[in-house]
Amino acid sequence: MATWAAGDLTVRVTGLRRSFGDTVVLDGADLTVGPGEVVALLGGSGSGKSTLLRALAGLDAEATGQITVPAHYGVVFQEHRLLPWKRVIDNVALGLIGTDPRGRALAALTEVGLGDRGGAWPAELSGGQAQRVAVARALVREPELLLLDEPFGALDALTRLRMQQLLERLRERHGFAALLVTHDVDEALLLADRALVLDGGRIAEEIPVTLPKPRHQDDPGFGGLRRRLLDRLGVPVP
Ligand SMILES: Nc1ncnc2c1ncn2[C@@H]1O[C@H](COP(=O)(O)OP(=O)(O)O)[C@@H](O)[C@H]1O
Ligand SMILES: [Mg+2]
Repeated sequence: MATWAAGDLTVRVTGLRRSFGDTVVLDGADLTVGPGEVVALLGGSGSGKSTLLRALAGLDAEATGQITVPAHYGVVFQEHRLLPWKRVIDNVALGLIGTDPRGRALAALTEVGLGDRGGAWPAELSGGQAQRVAVARALVREPELLLLDEPFGALDALTRLRMQQLLERLRERHGFAALLVTHDVDEALLLADRALVLDGGRIAEEIPVTLPKPRHQDDPGFGGLRRRLLDRLGVPVP
């Protein structure tokens, strides 16, 4: 595990391997993410997406291979992982060093539309609000990179759409790169510059998504890309 600038790249992963017992989950996976680039990582259930993301986040000491990520990165999981005994603002400010952590936390909360909920307890929030707080907690560290593991996977369809739009706005404003693990092909095609498919422990497919933004499912070209991705994921569309 190393954190240094990977030349012109924000993320460079080479030969990433991880096994659990006899089960080889990552078998020499390679991938890169450029500055400000959004890369979606798809793959069947159990293909190793979360394992890969945890390795990049420095949460897996047993993964081997070369990993370079920026010093400032944020992680968002499917569950918000807020501390229930801390108010929202203190969850966002947790562990922040430097000047005025609470002021910075409030600014991040305001950016995700929750500037007025800093005094609330996590249990008082809806699922979507709690995920917004999780995004604010990542954002407040001014990350060059966001690592997102199915961040909107547990939300209802409308809330998910709002969160996708929020992520897009934040990325435009802050310019961070993102690696977005998702099982939602449309989410990948709406947000990503490139879609990767993890299969057999490696990146088995790489599909550039060059549709102009903002994107919509009805855009010309969207359906073709969706079919190609679904086909690669083992769900051929007739
Ligand atoms: N801590 C662990 N112990 C044993 N097996 C694990 C562990 N974490 C993940 N696995 C296994 O590794 C494989 C990939 O898991 P995961 O990365 O969570 O897949 P995905 O996120 O793509 O659904 C699965 O077969 C899973 O059972
Ligand atoms: Mg997973």
